[in-house]
Amino acid sequence: MIGKISGTGSYVPSRYLDNHDLSQIVDTSDEWIRERTGIIRRHIVEADTTVSMAAQAAEKALESAKMLPEEIDLLIVSTISSNVILPCTACEVQKQIHAVHATCFDLNAACTGFLFAYNTAQAYIASGMYQNVLVIGAESLSSLVDWKDRSTCILFGDGAGAVVLRAEEGESYHMVTHSDGSKGEALTCDTGSFMKMDGQEVFKFAARQVPACIAEVVEHNHLMVEDIDYFILHQANRRIVEAVAKRMKVELTKFPMNLQEYGNTSSASIPLLLDEMNREGRLKKGQKLVLAGFGAGLSWGASLLEW
Ligand code: ACO
Repeated sequence: MIGKISGTGSYVPSRYLDNHDLSQIVDTSDEWIRERTGIIRRHIVEADTTVSMAAQAAEKALESAKMLPEEIDLLIVSTISSNVILPCTACEVQKQIHAVHATCFDLNAACTGFLFAYNTAQAYIASGMYQNVLVIGAESLSSLVDWKDRSTCILFGDGAGAVVLRAEEGESYHMVTHSDGSKGEALTCDTGSFMKMDGQEVFKFAARQVPACIAEVVEHNHLMVEDIDYFILHQANRRIVEAVAKRMKVELTKFPMNLQEYGNTSSASIPLLLDEMNREGRLKKGQKLVLAGFGAGLSWGASLLEW
C-alpha cells in the first residue's frame, strides 16, 4: 500500500512584518535581508496559536480531500513551537476538528519534521496499520525568536500546512532519513530560551547534504534526476535553494519557492508550498515530486511521490 496525497491545506496569520518593519526593530535593511536570504515578509501570529493554525490547515486539507474528519485514523503534528505540551498538539487538533477515530501524536525533528512525519505516515500505511492519515506541520516560531538578534529574527515566520494521505494499492517508494546528533550545536534552543544558530554551518550542511539525499532517494527508486518535475525543499533561504540547484546541475525553475512571503516556517514550509502549488493548479496528475527537509539535529531526509 502507498499513501497518496488526496488533499492539501494551509493557514497563515494575516499580520506580517516586512523587511522595512524589521529595520525599525534591529539594525538591518531590506537590501541586506533580500540579498542574503530572499525573504521579504514573514507572517506573525496575533490571536492565533500553533494549535489553531494546525486545525485550520487540517480542515482545509480535509475539504480538499473530500474526506470527513471521522475518517482519519492517524493524525501526526510536526512542531517545535506549540502553545501546548500536554495534551499533545495533535490531540488538541483532534478535539477542534472532531477527528474522533484518530490516533494522535506529535513529532519533533525541527525543520525536517514534516518530512519525517510524512515518511512515518507512509511507513504506517505500507504496514497496513492505518489508511487515512492527516500530516500537519505547524509553527509559531515568533515565540522562539530573540527579536534583538538580527542574525536570526529576520529568518523565521509562523504558519501551518497539512496533507491528507489516503491508502491506495501500490508499491511504496523508498524513503531517505538521516540524523547526526554530534553536530547539534549548529542550531539550538534550550527550554525557555531563544533559537541560536551558526548560520554558516547550517548553510554548508544544507548545501552538501540536501543534494546528496535527493540523489540517494532518486537512485534508490531507480529514477534519474531528470525524471523529477519539482524539488520541494524546506524553505529556509533562497541562497540554500540556489546552492542545491547549482550542485545538482538542475534549473532553478524546478525548485519552487515561497519563502519570500513567509520566511522560514520550519515544519510548516513544505506543506505550505505544496498547498500553494496545488491550489494554483501547478501540480498535475502523474508528475514526480521530491520533498526534501533539513534542519536542527542535525537531521535531513527526502521522499519521492507521484501526484
Ligand atoms: N542585517 C545586517 N547585517 C547583519 C544581519 C542583518 N540581519 N545579520 C548579520 N549581519 C552582519 C553580521 O553581524 C556580520 O557583520 P560583521 O562582518 O561586521 O561581523 C555580517 O552581517 C556577516 O554575517 P554572517 O553571519 O557572516 O552573514 P552570512 O552571509 O553568513 O549570512 C545568514 C547570514 C543569512 C544567516 C546565512 O549564514 C545563512 O543563510 N545561513 C543559513 C541558515 C539558515 O537559513 N537557517 C535557517 C534555520 S535552519 C533551517 O531551517 C535548516
